[in-house]
Parts: sequence; structure tokens; C-alpha cells
Amino acid sequence: GLRIGNLLKETGQVTYDPGFANTASLSSAITYIDGDEGILRYRGYDIAELTEKSTFVEVSYLLIYGELPTPQQLAEFDGRLREHTLLHEDMRRFFQAFPYDAHPMPMVSSAIAAMSTFYQDSLSITDEAQIDISTARLLAKMPTIAAFAHRHAEGVPVVFPDNNLGLVENFLRVNFGFPSEKYEVDPLALKALDQLFILHADHEQNCSTSTVRLVGSSQANMYQSISAGIHALAGPLHGGANSAVLEMLEEIQASDDGPKKFMERVKNKEDGVRLMGFGHRVYKNYDPRATIIKKTADEVLEKLGGNDEMLQLAKDLEEIALADDYFVERKLYPNVDFYTGLIYKALGFPTNMFTVLFAVGRLPGWIAQWREGVKDAETRIGRPRQIYTGAPQRLYTPAEDR
Ligand code: ACO
Repeated sequence: GLRIGNLLKETGQVTYDPGFANTASLSSAITYIDGDEGILRYRGYDIAELTEKSTFVEVSYLLIYGELPTPQQLAEFDGRLREHTLLHEDMRRFFQAFPYDAHPMPMVSSAIAAMSTFYQDSLSITDEAQIDISTARLLAKMPTIAAFAHRHAEGVPVVFPDNNLGLVENFLRVNFGFPSEKYEVDPLALKALDQLFILHADHEQNCSTSTVRLVGSSQANMYQSISAGIHALAGPLHGGANSAVLEMLEEIQASDDGPKKFMERVKNKEDGVRLMGFGHRVYKNYDPRATIIKKTADEVLEKLGGNDEMLQLAKDLEEIALADDYFVERKLYPNVDFYTGLIYKALGFPTNMFTVLFAVGRLPGWIAQWREGVKDAETRIGRPRQIYTGAPQRLYTPAEDR
């Protein structure tokens, strides 16, 4: 890379790069993406191998601490997460105050921001022990917070975590009351969700992660920085795309148009309609995560009885797109979100929880990135420049003369 910051400062020039499409603002040892080849690696390990052989908790450790844990390190890490799943009782009351029909994403980001008021003993950005405690607290409490938001919106009482269960199993329990005398966790549901969390765990400097690092560059604490990242993830062009895909599929099913007519509307850019779940700023090839998810969607929907017609519709849209010049020329392929919603739906989650599920999965990546940022001697407060296009200097006009 070319380090041009100081050079441009000396010459009074700035680079103009909307959306930072071509600007590296930091160096990182966490995640590697080759968008042309469709490669994604965490700390050097290929995503396909991690989803097949690892677990979400192990991958979280890998992202945050840089190496795969020994069995003892993993047991200690997992044990620490099990200790921290409960929320302060006053925090639980927060959820009662939110309007029941509100979207769960702002409930989750508010609760994460509030952690910096409840856990003031872990706000340091330099003390390693405190950083480890805030790491464990965030990872362990996020599933509880997400489920409390879900159950509040459903109008049903919260379920408390059971610390005999691992993180992902507990997540299903706090959302749905599993396991109980009536319900058992289906091993396929558990495996699918674990896999989806691994696939979402980090993706270098995307919009939400850049937000976490930008906020962190001002030395804001981990809770505040990650709360800001959750807001960034909520937008439909980022994490919000997974629920937008399902809404799009429902809309096509409800109309008489069918997939071909819908695709014509997309190509003609009618009302700005896009094929949600397609395209990516970095991948100009099949998103490697989408390949894995498509297979999981097949398995989950077959076993747990999801909406097969909807899966078929998604596959039809993909087939049309991959053979169409509009999509081929622009290198638009399915991204991670094209098939995830179908799996989440089959697992029983309502559509407005899909982006929250993305946030639960992305959390270890945000934590790893925040930690890397505060430790990096090269980190300076993020402060992009602009090209000013407003009025030239003018004199103030008194109100009566306007
Ligand atoms: N459907 C139809 N056309 C598209 C799509 C799409 N999904 N995505 C991009 N295009 C077209 C654009 O209209 C543009 O066409 P033009 O050259 O004729 O103007 C061209 O492809 C380039 O698109 P940009 O918007 O410039 O690409 P950018 O890199 O800025 O955006 C993004 C990437 C936001 C992901 C975009 O592809 C998109 O909106 N996709 C749909 C939303 C989505 O699935 N988001 C999830 C992203 S992945 C994630 O966050 C996990």
C-alpha cells in the first residue's frame, strides 16, 4: 500500500473517494478477503474449513486472540462466557419500556450502549484484564439481549439463560424456551445456526466494522463503539438486507408478476428496486459464504419443513440472474444474505429478528477489530476530509432584510 496521508497534507491536496471504495484507513491481521477469487479467511483459516470443523465459540476465540485455542483455553473461554449470560435486573426492565411493536435492532443497540452504565468496572481501553471482561460480557450477554428484544416484541415473558448449555444452544433456549419437557433442540437447527454465526463473524472493514473502529479511534469504550456498529448494521444496504430478501420473496409470491417480470423491473431500475441479497462491494464473484449457506438452506428446509416454494423462487431468481447480461456485466452474485432469511424463518425467527441474528454473529469480529484498533500504535482518530461545495463567504443578512 501507498502511504499518502502526509504527502497530501504537505501539498494541500485530498483524495476524493466516496464510500471509501479504494481507501485503506488501517492495517489488520484478522480477516483476508479476495473478492475476485471469492476467498474469505479468518486469521488465515479458510471459511469453508472453519464452518465444517469448528464452532462459533472457538471461532470467536480465534478472531479475538489470533490463534485456535488449546482444549484448556477453549474450556476456560467457554466457561467464562457461561458465567456472564445474565443481565442486571434493571437492564431487563429496559425492555418493558420499549414499544412492543418497535424493531428489535434499536432495542439491542440501546441495551449494548447501556452496558457502559451497568458495567463501569470494564471500561478501560488499556487494561487487558478489563478488556477481557468486557469481551466476555458482550459475547455472553448479547444472545440474552437479542432474545429479550424478540420476546418483548412477541408479548411473552423472557426466558432466563441456562448456564449448563453452550452459547448457541442457550440462544435457542432464551428465544424459544428450549429445551423443556415439550421441546428439544433439533441438532440440525443447532448446527445450522452455529454455522451461520461463524459465516457472519467477521468481514474486515465493512460499514458496521468501520463504524466500530472509527468510534473506537476516539478512545470510546468497547460497549459504546459496538453499539454504534449495530446501528450501522441496521440499514437495508448492510445487515438489513437479510430481512429485505424475505420481504422481496413474499412480495413476488403475492403478486401475479412472477420472477421474470420482477427481474425486468430490477433491470429497468423501476422505483429503484434491487435484487436484494445480490451484489457486494468487494466480491465480484460468488460470495463463498453464499455457497455454504445454500447447501444448509436445502438441508434445513427439507428436515424442518420450511417454505420450499420460497426456496425454489430464490433459486429461480438466482438462475435468471446468473444467465443475464445485466448481472453478469456488473458482476452481481448472491451475497451471504440471499439464503439466510429462509433458514432463520425455518428455525422459527420472525423477519424483524434476522438483522439481530446477523449482529449476534458479527459480534466477535467487532470485538476483535476494536481490540486491534486500540492496541495499534498507528491508530489516529478517524477524521476524513471533504470537498466543500457550499456557498462562498457571504455577509450576514439581518432578519428584516431576508
Ligand atoms: N440489484 C440490481 N442492481 C444492482 C444490485 C442489485 N442487488 N446491486 C448493484 N446493482 C447495480 C447498480 O444499480 C449499479 O448499476 P449501474 O452501474 O448501472 O449504475 C451497479 O450494479 C453497481 O452498484 P453499486 O450500488 O455502485 O455497488 P456498491 O458496491 O456501491 O453496492 C451493495 C454494493 C450495497 C451491496 C449493492 O450491491 C446492493 O445494494 N445490493 C443489494 C442489497 C444487499 O444485498 N446488501 C447486502 C450486502 S452484503 C452484507 O452487508 C452482508
